[in-house]
Formats: sequence, structure tokens, C-alpha cells
Amino acid sequence: MEVKLFGQKGVSSMNLTKQDRNQLADGHQMPKLGLGLYKVTDEAVMQKLLAGAYETGYRLFDTAQMYQNEAMIGRALQALPVQRDEFFITTKIAEANQGYDATLRSLEQSLKDLQLDYVDLLLVHWPLHQHFFETWRAFERAKAEGMVRSIGTSNYGQIHLEYLATKANELPVVNQVEVHPYLTQKPLQTFTNEHNIVTQAWAPLGRGGELSDPLVVSLAEKYQKSPAQIVIRWHLQNQTALIPKSSHVERVQANMDVFDFEITNDDMQALDDLNQFKRISQEPELVYERGAQYPHH
Ligand SMILES: NC(=O)c1ccc[n+]([C@@H]2O[C@H](COP(=O)([O-])OP(=O)(O)OC[C@H]3O[C@@H](n4cnc5c(N)ncnc54)[C@H](OP(=O)(O)O)[C@@H]3O)[C@@H](O)[C@H]2O)c1
Repeated sequence: MEVKLFGQKGVSSMNLTKQDRNQLADGHQMPKLGLGLYKVTDEAVMQKLLAGAYETGYRLFDTAQMYQNEAMIGRALQALPVQRDEFFITTKIAEANQGYDATLRSLEQSLKDLQLDYVDLLLVHWPLHQHFFETWRAFERAKAEGMVRSIGTSNYGQIHLEYLATKANELPVVNQVEVHPYLTQKPLQTFTNEHNIVTQAWAPLGRGGELSDPLVVSLAEKYQKSPAQIVIRWHLQNQTALIPKSSHVERVQANMDVFDFEITNDDMQALDDLNQFKRISQEPELVYERGAQYPHH
């Protein structure tokens, strides 16, 4: 399978469209731009959000067992006039549900809550040393049994992916990691590109905090776009898939209005140079050692 390179200088990306999908190494496809649903826990907001997002063109919705909104998403999807194969659902196995049996049991519950026969993408939410290979063995089985279409990881660094490859029968096809202008993760993205693993950015807007960065604001003025649209377009031109979240339908719509302009190579470089190795969330290595995302768990 062809390995896609990213960040190539001089390659026009003007032909990006909102329907664009990544070809995954397992033969399936995944929309490049999806909607994150972390912290959306109000039923009325969820219904409005999914309906508005679907109408705008979003097809990928990202949740996790940890977000405690799978059942709500299930109900909101039922309310949409769409066929199952028209949308792409990602969920993630929580740390407490890792291990062979627990992964499979909890996946059954997620499917029940989502009212689905399968999810399009199942991710290991965080690497944990205790259940590292057993959890992945359960993922391979879930895929073989049709409970999931594609399997992937989240918050895995290069070393976790290389370790997983020592025993895995199948490699992850997606690695969802924290990526935003202050944490560009170029070396990890180069590694995953070389291994045909698609990088999908979480907190792609830096949780909103990077939208007031002076460079981002000045580029927004220059291109007559919003700061969020500049950052979203930057991800896409770097060939990073992404799942920005908003609880506001107008913002969800605006976040997809990024296909009528192109950031120049110089401005792309300037955005890349904002990197400060600054994480919003946990250091994956600590979670791996601690066995939980938060110290008190
Ligand atoms: N795998 C993991 O470990 C992991 C961890 C965290 C998140 N995720 C996933 O990634 C998704 C995205 O990450 P995130 O939610 O942490 O952060 P994010 O998408 O970077 O930022 C979301 C924040 O930006 C604001 N925002 C969105 N669009 C905006 C706009 N156009 N103008 C101004 N502000 C805007 C939102 O506010 P409003 O909602 O008020 O509009 C919200 O506060 C999550 O929802 C979740 O699905 C995965």
C-alpha cells in the first residue's frame, strides 16, 4: 500500500474537500475531519449538534467510554434520517476496561449503548503496561468477529507502537494523539506515516487556548478567516486528520468552512514553528507506568 507523505513543500492542497477521507492500511476509509464529542453530556445539545453537523457534511463522530455519552449519541443517531454506512463512529476502551475479557465485555456494552452492530474505529484510549498485549489481542478478535471495522491506538508514542509490533498480528491503522500548534508531534507523525498509520489530532484547537496566539490571529486577518479555521486548515495541509469539538452548531459549521483558501508554505512553516512541546493533557509515558490517566484512579 502506498505510504503517504505529509508536509511536502510545494505540493498544492487547494483541492482538499470536506468529503476527503484517509485510506487506512486495512482497506477502510476514514473522514479526515470529524467532530469530537468530549464533554458533550446534554441530551438536547447532542441531538442538535449531531443533526447540524450531519447536515454540514460531518460523517465522523468521536466518543469514548470515558465520556459517558455513548447512549446519548446512540439516541441522537437514531433520530437522524441516515443509513448506518453513511456515518463513521469511533469509540475508545477506557483504562479500567482494559484486559482481554474486560475489553470485549465493555465493547459489547458500548455497542448496545450506541445502538450499533459495529463501530468503525475502536481505539485503546491510553497505553497501559498492565494489559498492553492482552487488550490488543481482544481488539484483533473484535475485528475478526465484526464488532469493529478498524482498530487503532490513542496516545501511543513511537516506543509504544514499536513494542506493540513485537507481538501484534495486526498493526493499528490510526493513532489519535494530542496535536496542535504548540505540540506539533512531527517526529511521531513522520514515524506513523512511514508505517501507514494515520495520525488523528485530538485537542486540535489546543482546547481553544491557541486561538488567541498572535500569529494565529494575524493569519486569520490575512486570510479573512477565523483563528479556528486557520488552525484546522493547518492540520489538513499537514495531512493530519482531526476531530475539533464544539458544543455550538454555528462553530461546528464554521469549523468545516475551510476548503476555500490555502495557507502558503511560509505561513505553514511559521505555524509549525509555534511548537513548544506543550501538552494540555497527560504525558502518555506516565499513564503507561501509572496504569491510569489520573493519579487518584
Ligand atoms: N484520545 C484522547 O485521549 C482524547 C483526549 C481529549 C479529547 N479527545 C477527542 O478530541 C476531541 C477534540 O479535543 P478537545 O475537545 O479536547 O479540544 P479542541 O477540539 O481542541 O477544542 C475544543 C474547545 O474549543 C472551542 N471551540 C471549538 N470551535 C471553536 C471556534 N470555532 N471558535 C472558538 N472556540 C472554538 C470549544 O468551545 P465550545 O464547545 O464552547 O464551542 C472547546 O472549548 C474531543 O472532543 C474528543 O472527542 C481525545
